[in-house]
Amino acid sequence: MTRAYRIDAKLCRGDGLCVAVCPKRVLEIAEGKARAVEGRVRHCLLCGQCMAVCVHDAIEVEGLSRADFPPLRRHAFAPEDFETFLAERRSVRTFKDQPVSRELLERIARAAAFAPMGFPPHSTSILIFDRREDLDRLAAELRRGYGKLLDMYRNPFLRLIIRLKRGAETMHAMRTHVLQIVEEDNERFRERGEDGYLYGAPALLLFHANRWSVAYQENAMLVAAYAMLEAQALGLGSTVLSIVPPLINNMPGMREPYGLGQDDVVVLGLIVGHPKYKYHRAIERKLAGVRYLRP
Ligand SMILES: Cc1cc2nc3c(=O)[nH]c(=O)nc-3n(C[C@H](O)[C@H](O)[C@H](O)COP(=O)(O)O)c2cc1C
Repeated sequence: MTRAYRIDAKLCRGDGLCVAVCPKRVLEIAEGKARAVEGRVRHCLLCGQCMAVCVHDAIEVEGLSRADFPPLRRHAFAPEDFETFLAERRSVRTFKDQPVSRELLERIARAAAFAPMGFPPHSTSILIFDRREDLDRLAAELRRGYGKLLDMYRNPFLRLIIRLKRGAETMHAMRTHVLQIVEEDNERFRERGEDGYLYGAPALLLFHANRWSVAYQENAMLVAAYAMLEAQALGLGSTVLSIVPPLINNMPGMREPYGLGQDDVVVLGLIVGHPKYKYHRAIERKLAGVRYLRP
């Protein structure tokens, strides 16, 4: 798509910062002022870096509003502070019996929008559950749906159908991971009334996107990660949930009540709430591997 660039010649000093920062070489300096390079404007990603880097506010890209470019406050924390913040994060599954205000939920959504995306604008949407009855209903649906899946899996014929419909990877995940959890979670509810899916959390965020948008899964995961960190910054606890999406995506009749269309895919869930307990120790983990290509 071809975009228009408004460059205010009175403000532009021709310093070339916008030219240097543009990832698609859409801009150039001519006669001491910035301008769009003929024939390259269609490559514009709408990343807005030219507007963000210009100290004189001389450039505006069509489709981006200056109002969406607030001045940056320089962060005042040392890297160690950020690393401590990361070390403090744990998956929180026990919550105080206290709702999360919509002000906080909206703050999480706003911060999550700072996540990078494969191609602007964002393809990720967030569906927020923050009413007890809606959360309880969804938890009941999960128990019912996964209970049904468990029954199907125990039948060799139906197991073959699942294998053919969903493929070897899904089958492997089910056998090694999902069904064991589901069996335990459903039993836990039967015996003690405990919700092992949503953990009785006061809020759930579902990150979803249209399956035809570029890199929609990766985008949604990054948005969820940012949301998780913002929740922590706000003193809340959260846990990423991958147990929720498959049922909503695959069970007939699960999407419509939540206003999700046929092409909408729920990528991840995130439960959020006020943590009941404080941790006094971090846990040091190692990634599966870290190596230089050339030692
Ligand atoms: C992609 C992903 C999916 C997850 N799905 C679930 C889930 O369905 N249920 C759950 O209780 N925890 C889930 N978790 C949380 C992990 O169990 C947790 O992050 C892991 O045990 C590490 O613990 P920590 O987050 O406290 O460091 C998920 C985490 C990730 C990253």
